[in-house]
Amino acid sequence: MKIVESLQELRQARAQLAGKVGLVPTMGFLHEGHLSLVEIAGQHSDHVVASIFVNPSQFGPNEDLDAYPRDIPKDLEMLEAAGVALVWMPTAEVMYPAHYQSWIDLDEITQYLEGAKRPGHFRGVATVVAKLFNAVQPDLAVFGQKDAQQVAVIKQMVRDLNMPVEVLVGPIIREADGLAKSSRNVYLKDDERMAARVLNRSLLKAETAFKAGERNGDAIREIMRKHIEDESLARLEYVSCAHEQLLHELNEVEEKALLSMAVFVGKTRLIDNLLLGKE
Ligand code: PAJ
Repeated sequence: MKIVESLQELRQARAQLAGKVGLVPTMGFLHEGHLSLVEIAGQHSDHVVASIFVNPSQFGPNEDLDAYPRDIPKDLEMLEAAGVALVWMPTAEVMYPAHYQSWIDLDEITQYLEGAKRPGHFRGVATVVAKLFNAVQPDLAVFGQKDAQQVAVIKQMVRDLNMPVEVLVGPIIREADGLAKSSRNVYLKDDERMAARVLNRSLLKAETAFKAGERNGDAIREIMRKHIEDESLARLEYVSCAHEQLLHELNEVEEKALLSMAVFVGKTRLIDNLLLGKE
């Protein structure tokens, strides 16, 4: 496995990779969720490239950029064992050199959900992903359904800007009790870790109601809200029952909907989601 930092080294190493290349962008501190994306990339390409970059431009002023967990030696061990051919670990100076000026903004789709709570977040995500695509020039890239709005934003950007990259989406990988795996789960104290089960459980409650015939958006949101409010260590930021691609709230669910939420458990902000009505 080759590990590179500069753009020049990346380009040279990339040029050596014959056939189809699949990219898995990450911010490191890897877990099985990330590795599942590497596996999907491997199934659809000849070589997998992974990137590790804690992208400053997608963190807000009060977010956890400096405290974001890091363990590069372990990450590299995991990527090597997973069969990755090339790892790009750019520094912030490589990504955003002095006088950097170009940004990608998406309009409507970034106004909802995470975008509403984290202004500028998706500007940072879209820009860094576009830069990764331009540098690595992958045939395909794999993202996790864990970050459902991120998937919608990246697919929209690829369509809008004619990027020649196929976007594949991997399912949410969960702990045995349903908690979605996340680099941020390490922040949870024991009692908070138990309380964090409420996210997935509330999604499953809403899904059960949907399967029993509930189609009213407010009623579905209310089921999730109530369940979360019953957990004293949890503080709800938002719950949503939205159009799965355009992400606006639905009054009535026709065939499909994206249920999603952000919940603080202690000081840790967790997100989770579930697609209703998937085949
Ligand atoms: P990061 O949070 O490191 O996640 C990297 C990828 O792993 C994302 O596509 C994310 O959706 C996926 N992922 C995380 N947890 C997962 C889980 N439990 N199951 C399945 N997939 C999971 O997302 C980012 O980094 C950044 O925004 C990035 C795209 C790298 C741009 O900076």
